[in-house]
Amino acid sequence: MLRKIVMLGVIVCLTLGASIAAAAPDALFSWAQAPTTLTYYGQSTFLLTHGDTKVLIDPWFTGSPWKTGTADEMDAQYILISHAHFDHIGDAASIALRTGAKVVSTSEITRMLGEKGITNSQGMSIGGKKNFEFGSVKLTNAVHGSGVAGGQAAGFIITFFGKVLYFAGDTALFGDMAYIGKANLDYALLPIGDNFTMGLDDATEAVGLLHPKKVIPMHYNSNPNIMQNPEDFKKMVEGRYGTPVIIVKPGTTITL
Ligand code: NI
Ligand code: MN
Repeated sequence: MLRKIVMLGVIVCLTLGASIAAAAPDALFSWAQAPTTLTYYGQSTFLLTHGDTKVLIDPWFTGSPWKTGTADEMDAQYILISHAHFDHIGDAASIALRTGAKVVSTSEITRMLGEKGITNSQGMSIGGKKNFEFGSVKLTNAVHGSGVAGGQAAGFIITFFGKVLYFAGDTALFGDMAYIGKANLDYALLPIGDNFTMGLDDATEAVGLLHPKKVIPMHYNSNPNIMQNPEDFKKMVEGRYGTPVIIVKPGTTITL
């Protein structure tokens, strides 16, 4: 009996060892070495990077008062677009056409971009999730205009090399954020500008529904209607929940 157990143990160990060795050591090495970073370009424009993999979110450079980058210098394999207002879809088409990046958005937006010659795209709908080489994207509800006929504004739950981010897009506060909070979020990227989206009070309420590990404010100070002091938001959230708010200065990069 004991001998059988020992033999079984040896077989299990050999099998495990072989499968670990078979998993490309280079890939494991780069996974461990490459930092996962987030660059903020102002408004709702972010770039996620891990090694050579880049995911650009709501790219708006041309006409952005932040002047943190240009569409010409952007490089990505994926472009996520939350809705078709200019400050979110702005430079998506030109970057997609130049780089061949795959556009991930609602079907209405990918169809519209298809008419501009962008065929590398993944059309999705609210509630749907899709796996990609970097992880996955799930489209969430967003209470906001879509900017395209028949469409809906979206947010994203993005899994990127093990980090889970909720990018709210442009949205009002809504109670179902409590369900989004079940995704065990590392980061919540929330609009705080008010007028078109949540303001400071509602974004602070949102943190209570989402209970992320960290919060990053976005969509503020790019036009006179959405002037806010992110330091006020930081005080409100940290004072109420103790959840750290990271104010990422436009044009800078943090490690996630
Ligand atoms: Ni909008
Ligand atoms: Mn907007």
